[in-house]
Formats: sequence, structure tokens, C-alpha cells
Amino acid sequence: MIVAIDGPAGTGKSTIAKLISEKLNITFLNSGSFYRGITLTVLRRGVDITDKEAVLQVAKDLKMDYVNSHLILDGEDVESLLHSDAVDANASQVSAIVPLRHVVNEKLREITKKLSVVCEGRDITTVVFPNAEYKFYLDASIDVQAMRRFKQGVSDLSLEEIKEAIRKRDEMDKNKEEGSLKIAPDACYIDTSDLTIEQVCEIILNKIQL
Ligand code: DC
Repeated sequence: MIVAIDGPAGTGKSTIAKLISEKLNITFLNSGSFYRGITLTVLRRGVDITDKEAVLQVAKDLKMDYVNSHLILDGEDVESLLHSDAVDANASQVSAIVPLRHVVNEKLREITKKLSVVCEGRDITTVVFPNAEYKFYLDASIDVQAMRRFKQGVSDLSLEEIKEAIRKRDEMDKNKEEGSLKIAPDACYIDTSDLTIEQVCEIILNKIQL
């Protein structure tokens, strides 16, 4: 079974997808982690982020495993390193490289051959798993998105700077050549701005258990 969830940054997608996966006792698959992991490696190696061929080669050469919802790159658990401001600022640009998206998509499909998952990202309902049994699109106002990120306490930026960074990133994510963020016509749309995490989970679980 595949439960697919898409939406912009700061809509609670990861937290919600994780909770849903625990309720259903299936795996939580965070597709953004793969783009973040590749970005982390590119930054660590000092590869020029604007050199698409070089960035693609990094992705192709990386051994990417996903164990207990943790991303393992060449044998190293990098899960705790994926949400720095530097990775945040560069992941969108890396994820815009079309053939690199194909590398990630293949990996995601390979993982789900053996597992039922709740998978979240930007193009999961539209490109990666268009035939998923359940599809959801989570949205939120820009103010709410920024406040949620601010409260995570992992950023050194001010609230205003976070808002601007999110606006920029969402804009890029919506205008990608392939895999851009959009609402699948058959997805259940949920505006999470005035909802708690628990309320969103309840809506999703009610749909799944119908
Ligand atoms: O969901 P996230 O913030 O961890 O995603 C990190 C970046 O990767 C973000 O810029 C969007 C991009 N991404 C994507 O293009 N496609 C996906 N399926 C998931 C994430």
C-alpha cells in the first residue's frame, strides 16, 4: 500500500506522514531526505552546485539506503545532518536537475517494491506514485509555514528571513521543469493553517479507514 502526501515546506508533512505510518504500522518514506542527502554530499565535497553534470555524478555514485526511516549514504547515517540552513538553501536547486530526479525516483520505487509506505514530498502523488491508493495535498499560509519552521528552533534565521527563504524555495519547487509541486486532481486537499497535527492526522486516517 502507498499513501502519498505532497505539499510545500512547513505544512507539517513529515510529522504527519510519520505519525500516519506509525498508526498504520508501515514505513515512513521521506523523499526530500534523498535530495537533502545529495545536497549535503555536494556541499561537503565542495562540488560546484551550479555544475549540473558534477552534481548528477555525485547522485549516481552515492550508495543510498533507507533503514528505519533514516537515510544512509555510503554507510553513514546522515539523518541528523539534513536540516541545516545550508542544506535547506541548496536542496531545491539540486532537486531541479531532471536526470537527478530520475535517480531519486528509481530509488523510491525500488524501496516500495518490498514495503508499504507513507511517502511524502512534492511530486509523489503526481509523478513518483501516480497510482498510489491514497493521495493527499497539504497546504498552509506562508505565515504559518514560517512560524512552524521558526519554532523548530533549527534555523539561525529571523522569522522574516525564514519567510523569505520559504517563499523562494516554494516558488522554485512550483516552477521546476519536471516534478514541480502541484495538486493532483484526485488528491484530497487539506489546508492545515488552522489545524493541529492531530486534526490533520484524523482527517487522513478517516479517509484511509473508510
Ligand atoms: O520536503 P523537504 O523540504 O525535505 O525537501 C527538500 C527539497 O527537495 C525541497 O526543495 C523540495 C525538494 N523535493 C522535491 O523536489 N521533490 C520531492 N519529492 C521532495 C522534495
